[in-house]
Amino acid sequence: MLKNPSSKYQRFNPVSLPNRRWPSQTITKAPIWCSVDLRDGNQALAVPMNVSQKLDMFDALVKCGFKEIEVGFPSASNTEFAFNRRLIEEKRIPDDVTIQCLVQAREDLIEKTVESLIGAKNVVIHMYNSTSPAQRKYVFGKSKEEIIAVAIKGAQMIKDRLHRLTTGGTHVTLQYSPESFSATEVEFAKEISEAVMDVWQPTPQHKMILNLPDTVEVCMPNVYADQIEWICTNLKNRESLIISLHTHNDRGTGTAATELGLLAGADRVEGTLFGNGERTGNLDIVQVAMNLYMHGIDPQLDFSDMSSLIHMYERTTGMTVPPRQPYAGELVFTAFSGSHQDAIKKGLSGYEEHKTIWDVPYLTIDPNDIGREYHEVIRVNSQSGKGGVAYLLESEFGIELPKDMQREFGPIANDIVDKLGREVSGAELKDMFWKEYIQRETPYALHHFHADGVDGVFTCRCSLVIQGKERGITGTGNGPIAAFADALIKDAGAPSFEVTTYREQSLSSGTEASALAFIQIKTSGGKAVWGAGVDTNIELASIKAVLSAVNRASN
Ligand code: KIV
Ligand code: ZN
Repeated sequence: MLKNPSSKYQRFNPVSLPNRRWPSQTITKAPIWCSVDLRDGNQALAVPMNVSQKLDMFDALVKCGFKEIEVGFPSASNTEFAFNRRLIEEKRIPDDVTIQCLVQAREDLIEKTVESLIGAKNVVIHMYNSTSPAQRKYVFGKSKEEIIAVAIKGAQMIKDRLHRLTTGGTHVTLQYSPESFSATEVEFAKEISEAVMDVWQPTPQHKMILNLPDTVEVCMPNVYADQIEWICTNLKNRESLIISLHTHNDRGTGTAATELGLLAGADRVEGTLFGNGERTGNLDIVQVAMNLYMHGIDPQLDFSDMSSLIHMYERTTGMTVPPRQPYAGELVFTAFSGSHQDAIKKGLSGYEEHKTIWDVPYLTIDPNDIGREYHEVIRVNSQSGKGGVAYLLESEFGIELPKDMQREFGPIANDIVDKLGREVSGAELKDMFWKEYIQRETPYALHHFHADGVDGVFTCRCSLVIQGKERGITGTGNGPIAAFADALIKDAGAPSFEVTTYREQSLSSGTEASALAFIQIKTSGGKAVWGAGVDTNIELASIKAVLSAVNRASN
């Protein structure tokens, strides 16, 4: 890289708009959406989609609720032409959906495009020519006047062929794109757009679409917004136009540019699912739509089944959705940090209680709204705290660890996860819990237990296996647990202890219901230790929990 980048790159000259209004606007409704997946997205694929893949994607786009879909560039290849014919002849386009086709301002291409659209109900013919100084100079070698003449001629050629569509009942809208708009002088963009309007003669009843592409994202989103507001303010006959945004993502701010462009007065947005498109991609429509949704605005697009949409996208394009892609990525509802996990856990249970406005920390939307599951929210790795561990045990297995026990087991689990050096599943965590508490049989293993109570005094008779040998023990107390503790201390030589906390819960796995007991003991040295036991009989579960705690304290 250069030490002095200004020797090679120059500052972008923003449009002068001292009285800009867009910063104090808010977005209150969804724009008109147009998917350009089948054209701009498709042209950027290593292997473009075949007709059946395009049909698959078209159906999915319709299902999401897109009412305008750019289906291709029918004059560019037989596949593209054949796709249009299949859509029309097999009556696959719902009456409320408009198909759009891209074409350059050339007679043979316009002719072919018109032919591909015969029989459709509603179409947009999208004509473009590039207008920026670099394109004028290097690519076309044409003056401004000559570039305007190309656009005028193109619009006229489409107009001259209109009857071929309208006589069959097709409703035609013209869309004009001064390609590379954001790199074009706004005055020139105005001049060329107005020249096209003069040919087409749009009215408020029959509007023309003026699409203003950020073909290559060359400036900050606020500058693009200024350009949009300038056009909306200065172009004649604004009420006869639908102003459309078409952003790419070269500087990584395609979404911001679109949102600010909407503040600046645009009516319509072009983009693709998950941002597929040339270079860094087109605008990701899912992002803008879901951003509206998270502010309580109906986006008029339905992404309830995000996973199926991602599968369709990956199947048809061969692209993948990155794991951190906003809203859609596999990891976007996953918290690795312990404090985040704890906050999410609390937020989710708080939300469960009031069920009004979503206010769960760290989660911008309820994952459920797009077909994701709550249990995807938290995973456990070495960075996770006790909250994540407790959440997984509870959400996947219904094990509700007492708070104090979470403080004991959390670090134990973290140590093991740290040594493994990877993320662990809920099942692995349960396994750790079982090994640490339930399967503790040394130095004492329970062989048999029986307790009777008379007038509030309980006597227990049981046998333990100690160092491979069975031994009978007896004890008394004001309940079975106290009697067992007495027997352990008196007859089995266990260090003295008292039971300080007891909790039980039921567990059901498959058809078998069982009880899970948690016991905390305090040794004579003042050490608090937890134990847990599981059995179909609640009394036995608690006895096993005492033994688990004593065994853990003895090791
Ligand atoms: O990015 C672009 O400018 C385009 C035009 C053809 C609209 O895709
Ligand atoms: Zn584009």
